Amino acid sequence: MARKANKAVLSPNVIMEELTGGWRAQTLSAAIELDVFSHIAAGKRTAKEVAGAAGASLRGMASLLDALVGLGHLRKTGARYSLQPVAAAFLVRSKKTYMGAAAESLSLTWDVWKHLAEAVRTGHPYEAVDVAKRGKEFFPKLVAGIFPGNFAASSAAVSSLPGKERREIHRILDVAAGSGAWSLAFAQAIPEARVTTVDFPEMTPITRGFAEKLGVAGRYEYHEGDLRQTDFGQDIYDLVILGHIIHSEGEKHGKELIRKSYAALRPGGMLLIAEFVPNDTRTAPSFPLLFGLNMLLQTEEGNVFTLREYRAWLKAAGFRKVKTVPVPAPSPLILATK
Ligand SMILES: C[S@@+](CC[C@H](N)C(=O)[O-])C[C@H]1O[C@@H](n2cnc3c(N)ncnc32)[C@H](O)[C@@H]1O
Repeated sequence: MARKANKAVLSPNVIMEELTGGWRAQTLSAAIELDVFSHIAAGKRTAKEVAGAAGASLRGMASLLDALVGLGHLRKTGARYSLQPVAAAFLVRSKKTYMGAAAESLSLTWDVWKHLAEAVRTGHPYEAVDVAKRGKEFFPKLVAGIFPGNFAASSAAVSSLPGKERREIHRILDVAAGSGAWSLAFAQAIPEARVTTVDFPEMTPITRGFAEKLGVAGRYEYHEGDLRQTDFGQDIYDLVILGHIIHSEGEKHGKELIRKSYAALRPGGMLLIAEFVPNDTRTAPSFPLLFGLNMLLQTEEGNVFTLREYRAWLKAAGFRKVKTVPVPAPSPLILATK
């Protein structure tokens, strides 16, 4: 967010707020770990009651609950706490939209972020997610953490498609499928759609687990292997999905993925790209720009790219129409037609 520098009211508060940003993240993560929001949803309302349910000290819980009020996640009336709407929707374990796993997956990045200055100095990752080794442990945790948000966004994308376009989707290729978050919403909404995934073999049981939960596992098949070595085929699919993979692959391999997706689509088929997209001048919003740093810290070539860049790459690959689809996610989705 742009901040107006007004000399009369210039205050260093904003610097302190930013420098304690990690405290906010830790406060929310601790509350998720202790299941504070679920206990409040279950009727525990005072610090003593919540502390009892969480097996925590009264001193600790009272401080934590007040901090959560300060951060806007809880409301306090006298000595009783209740949930604010976002916490009620996304932080209560029994909810389908529960986002607690995101806390665990994001905590996987904390150690690496301590080395940002070093990565900026060298231009190389402090600790690259070696997809052949560490990636195989890292990604299963990550994809479970990002499932609820991505599934909500893909469900919104499916609903936004005109019926005619939806009815033409029979074969789907979900590249770097992970949990399958992006294709599962299509498989659920289109009963005749069949999905092929491309990902490491370690991911297959995870994708299958999500597909089973949603009752569509019978229509999934799995291509196990390195996506850089995989030929996606020619003129086969009605929909190809590149969900959160170009940012870690970087420009060169990202363009190659777009080219292979184009070849694999039948004429009139669509490519769906889910990414974190900064504006064309790379000045906002802050989240995609911070994600660019996350890619610097963890990959050799990864980055975030603007819509102008995606349009140019898609046009160069042969796509004739490119549009964006607004969804409840940090950035709109990109939909290109062959
Ligand atoms: C950030 S996750 C995205 C998962 C899913 N598309 C989503 O958006 O929720 C990246 C996925 O790409 C897979 N992946 C990364 N590099 C790969 C490679 N070289 N070959 C195959 N899969 C790869 C990982 O295993 C992981 O499932």
